[in-house]
Amino acid sequence: MNENRNSFKGSIGFVLAAAGSAVGLGNIWRFPYLAAKDGGGLFLVIYIVLALTFGFTLLTTEIAIGRKTKQSPLTAYSKLKSKWKPLGIIACIVPIMIFPYYVTIGGWVLKYLLVYITGNGHAAAQDGYFSGFIGQTAEPIIMMLVFTIIVAFIIFRGVNSGIESSSKIIMPLLIVLVLGVSVYSLTISYTDIDGTTRTGLQGLGAYVIPNMKGITVKQFCTVLMDAMGQLFYSLSVAMGIMIAYGSYVSDDANLGKSINQIELFDTIVAFLAGVMIIPAVFVFMGRDGMTASGPSLMFVSLPKVFDSMGFAGNVIGAIFFAMVFFAALTSAVSIMEAIVSSFMDEFKLNRNKATAIETVIGIAVAVIVCLGYNKLLFDIKLPNGVHAQVLDIMDYVSNNVLMPIVSIGTCILIGWILKPKTVIDEVEKTGIKMGRKGLYTVMVKWVAPILLFLLLLKSLGILTI
Ligand code: PHE
Repeated sequence: MNENRNSFKGSIGFVLAAAGSAVGLGNIWRFPYLAAKDGGGLFLVIYIVLALTFGFTLLTTEIAIGRKTKQSPLTAYSKLKSKWKPLGIIACIVPIMIFPYYVTIGGWVLKYLLVYITGNGHAAAQDGYFSGFIGQTAEPIIMMLVFTIIVAFIIFRGVNSGIESSSKIIMPLLIVLVLGVSVYSLTISYTDIDGTTRTGLQGLGAYVIPNMKGITVKQFCTVLMDAMGQLFYSLSVAMGIMIAYGSYVSDDANLGKSINQIELFDTIVAFLAGVMIIPAVFVFMGRDGMTASGPSLMFVSLPKVFDSMGFAGNVIGAIFFAMVFFAALTSAVSIMEAIVSSFMDEFKLNRNKATAIETVIGIAVAVIVCLGYNKLLFDIKLPNGVHAQVLDIMDYVSNNVLMPIVSIGTCILIGWILKPKTVIDEVEKTGIKMGRKGLYTVMVKWVAPILLFLLLLKSLGILTI
């Protein structure tokens, strides 16, 4: 039945494509900020423990569902259990919502890349530059269009010649760029007007040394929830991506090994993003500078840091934004693939048609997202306290509400209805035993759904830690 389904040529291609999805804006603009806010080392330790337990469980479940059903998210859940189709529908709505705003941000990254390549980094460091840019009508839309067309082109080319080949080039390059900037970041130092000198190595200390002094249980819980929310987003689970990619993995591939590699890749890049950013911000802006997150870290604080570096700033800025561009590109590709593969499986469309349809829908909604900072500007306060424009609202609904719901549903389906053995058998299909089986069973039945439920309550503003 599925003879014509595309597949990854090898497990390296699969690992790099899945890591390409996982490594994205979240690794670069959210992880370092959370680590700095949550006492450095403590956050890192909790994050790693969660990655090996909670992250491992969710990732394994989705990839195994994909490979077992050989279906995209929209059709995979109903193939497992026909009554569970609604969960597949929600899992498919999530990427449809995320895609337009992800490509909008991709457009911003492209703009900054061009600014640094053309040597205009000083202008980008001025107050009001970023808000001036996103407040324009035409330019953000043009950048978004260019970014979307690059993504659509990769998807048009298909699983092998598009997704797999581009990941094989981009991901190694990304690692080289991240390592290069990290090493540079550790070598810098700066002396204030009042004579205090701060070095990159001191900044590294502020990042990795656990700050446990007087930590309360409540603070510990906050760190735990932050780490879990971040991990969840970072592994690109709960939106069908890993199901779609899993469906392209051949039956003789060693899933357990690939899953460990994907997690390792994602965690190393997140950690190194912190090594790149935290010491540099610390050196030029002191401890207070480290608390900016999201767009303001990337598009406001970092341009000021690059500007303080003098001549090197334009070069480092260009390398940095090239890296962010690649990270965002491979993630956007995976979001689009989850949607396109769903359209192909559900409506029996060919790849070209499905890609064309999603390109049009994605662009139409993304134009509204871009105009959210200009013609459609408004301000709504969300339950988690964030003041929101169109982009923030779509981000909130997809990430904070729908994604935990999809994951809780997936855990209940596998843990209680079909039983964990379904996934374990799929992983062990090649005859290689699955590691951490007992842990997996306890996690998927009990721990993961409970933690996810708490995360959902926190997002809805019902639980305040
Ligand atoms: N995992 C990506 C990151 O960390 C974000 C992402 C979320 C990518 C959802 C695709 C889908 O930035």
